[in-house]
Amino acid sequence: MSKTARAYTNIALIKYWGKKNQTLKLPYTNSLSLTLDRFYTDTKACVINNDQDIIYLNQTLLDQTLLDQTQSQRIRNYLDTIRQMYSFNEHFQIDTVNHVPTSAGFASSASGFAALAAAINETKQLNLDKKQLSILARNGSGSASRSIYGGFVEWIAGSDNETSFAQPIETESEIDLTILSVVINKNVKKISSTVGMENSVKSSPFYPNWVTLVASEIKEIKQAIAKKDVQKIGEIAEHNAMSMHALTLSANPSFTYFEPETIKILQIIHELRQKGILAYATIDAGPNVKIICTKESLKQVQKYIEEQLSNVTCVVANIGSGIQYI
Ligand code: PMV
Repeated sequence: MSKTARAYTNIALIKYWGKKNQTLKLPYTNSLSLTLDRFYTDTKACVINNDQDIIYLNQTLLDQTLLDQTQSQRIRNYLDTIRQMYSFNEHFQIDTVNHVPTSAGFASSASGFAALAAAINETKQLNLDKKQLSILARNGSGSASRSIYGGFVEWIAGSDNETSFAQPIETESEIDLTILSVVINKNVKKISSTVGMENSVKSSPFYPNWVTLVASEIKEIKQAIAKKDVQKIGEIAEHNAMSMHALTLSANPSFTYFEPETIKILQIIHELRQKGILAYATIDAGPNVKIICTKESLKQVQKYIEEQLSNVTCVVANIGSGIQYI
């Protein structure tokens, strides 16, 4: 009886934005993330005697609606890639459940593909070590490579399939960093991260600067992590996130993931800092804002956000662990 694989989602503090190889999902730059403890995916894979994979997402058989078809095709293509990589032919029944708080609006591709990679590793007894598992997860979704590990994780860009994988950043003791997720909109994003990246790489005049910037910000944030300097981590992460979104605004044609509430929250964060409260923003390919806080600043930040904005949901997340088999 194979075990269920559990993977937690991660939030990038230094973003992955742009692929130099679409098929292998090789990024132009390293990236660095924090695995979170609140949002995870549980996936079980069983070998079946069938010529197609059967996929259940949240106990519902995929394939019935147009959205399901897109999602299930991505999973099917990924399973084909795994069959090719490890030279076997069997198909699977996949049961995957996303444990994401209602309305959290969290992109689940990182936890989803990390859990799926680990579930196949378990069922097919591939005996992959964490580096190989990270490579396998990357082939599903770039950011999934980082969800193999807990805590702070760096994804090394590499130059081919074998050299592009994530690795943990060891920290000696606990760090007083908490994430407040402010959920504005739980709808499926209009521009996928894949398309957003492609457009930015192709047409933003600032893309070459982004590559240089990420190299220096990765170095700086690793120093800040080593010193457990949450303020510095926040400053670098916010600057990196704003620089990533500048690539979307400067693409041609221009686009943005921001919504009016996104800007409002950024303004609130600036006000909070003026009051001496530690709060820094990071934003992925969507309108929701994740706020880097300390345990001390968290309550004040949450209270202030909830007072100013009535139609948002706040979810608190701490540092989470890597892949587990349960
Ligand atoms: O792994 P993908 O294709 O979902 O891309 C993730 C892109 C960002 O979330 C915006 C940044 C990141 O590094 O996770």
